Amino acid sequence: MIVKAPAETWVEADLVITGAGELLTCPGGSGETGARPSLGLITRGAVAARAGRVVWVGESSRLGDEVRLLPGVQRVDAEGRVVMPGLVECHTHLAFAGDRPDEFQLRVGGATYQEVTAAGGGIMNTVHATRRAKDEELRTSARRRLDRFLAYGVTTVEAKSGYGLTLEHELRILEVYRDLDAIHPVDVVSTLLGMHIVPVEYSDRVDAYVDMVARKMIPAAAKRKLAHFCDAFCEKGAFSVEQCRRVLTAGIEHGLMPKLHADQLSSGGGAELGVELGAVSVDHLDRVSEPGIAALAAASRGAMDLGRKAGTPGSRAPVAVLLPGATFFLGEGGHAPARRLLEAGVPVALSTDFNPGSSPTQNLWLMATMGCSALRMTAAEVIRAITIEAAAAVGLDHEVGSLDVGKKADILILEHTKHTQIPYRYGMNPVWQVFKAGRSVVKRNPALEDVW
Ligand code: NIG
Ligand code: FE
Repeated sequence: MIVKAPAETWVEADLVITGAGELLTCPGGSGETGARPSLGLITRGAVAARAGRVVWVGESSRLGDEVRLLPGVQRVDAEGRVVMPGLVECHTHLAFAGDRPDEFQLRVGGATYQEVTAAGGGIMNTVHATRRAKDEELRTSARRRLDRFLAYGVTTVEAKSGYGLTLEHELRILEVYRDLDAIHPVDVVSTLLGMHIVPVEYSDRVDAYVDMVARKMIPAAAKRKLAHFCDAFCEKGAFSVEQCRRVLTAGIEHGLMPKLHADQLSSGGGAELGVELGAVSVDHLDRVSEPGIAALAAASRGAMDLGRKAGTPGSRAPVAVLLPGATFFLGEGGHAPARRLLEAGVPVALSTDFNPGSSPTQNLWLMATMGCSALRMTAAEVIRAITIEAAAAVGLDHEVGSLDVGKKADILILEHTKHTQIPYRYGMNPVWQVFKAGRSVVKRNPALEDVW
């Protein structure tokens, strides 16, 4: 006689995905410094969800005994494919108007990014186009970019302002993000980046601009709950450590958690400032200094010790968000020291840095490949870097980024059958199906299935 588990230990599901060749849960809390990063890989795995949340994860063979299927359940057979959490894109400049292909050609001809900026191009070029654009134009282009992210398996996107640089225009961009978050399947997490560059109208009054951001922009964005984070570009030709400290401190006082564009083009103490302020993430780090690496390592060790005492090992030190696409596209060398950061126990995420100047791509899978080929990260490290570590970089690792019971059922089925194919088959979109909060939102055109 077959004895079934007692009914009260069953979980009920309205979505089940079975037959994963490899199910990657990407668990949070990377554990001890130097420990091998875990993908939480289950062969012949299955995942079940109810009302948009993960309720069960395990081997397909156990599903029948542990999960009760509700009437009308959606059943999907992954047919041996990789199943994993929806990707988290943790650093984008999503809303802007226009493009800058001519500047790329100037750089191909030998000009540096900062020379182009000093000549009146760069970020300010996009600011002019964005200020001219109508609300509807900004909303439509940003929505279509979210559509593209979703097609690529990204289910959560961090989106920065930074191409308005007046109170009115920065809030307008943040309003676009608020509206899109409400209507689009992709979750949008907003960041105020009023400190992107000094706008031309303030070129001889930089401190007056910094003052305006601290006293007007931040309180207005916070009061209207338009941003979760406050970011600043800490760089020669942009803002000093002092100016960034002032603004990010004002942000903290208004409940906006700090993030930082740090040590991208020169080594300027950005990583150290991020640690000092308890930033959620420090991003770029192509030219982070030795003291900067040491500060991040010490912060991560401290977070680990605290977590161990509280029984919740995990990182609350800044996540290092590395952006190899921007390094590649600028072509000025200086890849971020990913291996040293990882070996020092610093959590590392990867992102496209999608923007019209330094990284006009939305392909986060390609960043995983660059993470391996340019930054020497392993397949497991890059997969975590675009899921659970990226979720930590936007303070959402309790909600998304892994297939843990209770989290959002943001789930991908890929065309791949092994996780090592993720960085290997590069520059293409491997997504076969996307579920956002348990709902099927992307299905691959069968004509494109398994083209290899
Ligand atoms: O992250 N570094 C500053 N901001 C962007 C570039 C923005 C632009 O060039 O429009 C970045 O690389
Ligand atoms: Fe950026």
